[in-house]
Amino acid sequence: MPTATHTPLDRAIIHHFVVEFYARLRKHPELGPIFERRLGGAWDSHMERLTDFWMTMLGGGTLYRGNPFDVHRKIEEMAEHQFDDWLALFEAAAKDTLPANLANQATEKAHRIANSLKMGLFYRPQGLNQTAP
Ligand code: HEM
Repeated sequence: MPTATHTPLDRAIIHHFVVEFYARLRKHPELGPIFERRLGGAWDSHMERLTDFWMTMLGGGTLYRGNPFDVHRKIEEMAEHQFDDWLALFEAAAKDTLPANLANQATEKAHRIANSLKMGLFYRPQGLNQTAP
């Protein structure tokens, strides 16, 4: 029997969470327009892709094959400060729609991936990438 602490992974549950997360993201004054521009209305296919991504991240098999770093590198409007709101919306949507064990796992992964994306996209160690006088 599934318990509150060990709910089996189910695509419908993850999809429901993803839809709720993007409904919230879409209303965000800074993040919403970035997605609108990049997706050009193709929200449904994006949410299917992100459902596969989160299934994969949570151990539900390798449904997602892609390279998030390459995708985000091409989004010129992205800025480091945006991650705080992205993560806050993610965490709230996860808490509201997922069983606690999955909400916690997903939130922890999201923080880790966000940190590695931030490092890759925005970290410029001092002294590097500078040409000698
Ligand atoms: C400020 C934070 C973020 C912004 C503004 C952002 C924005 C976007 C946008 C606009 C796309 C669609 C790109 C396209 O199809 O051309 C996208 C795709 C995606 N994002 Fe983010 N993102 C953010 C953070 C994150 C984080 C923290 C994760 C993971 C935990 C993530 C996971 C993904 C994935 C998996 C895709 C699909 C990549 C693919 O097509 O293979 N994003 N993001």
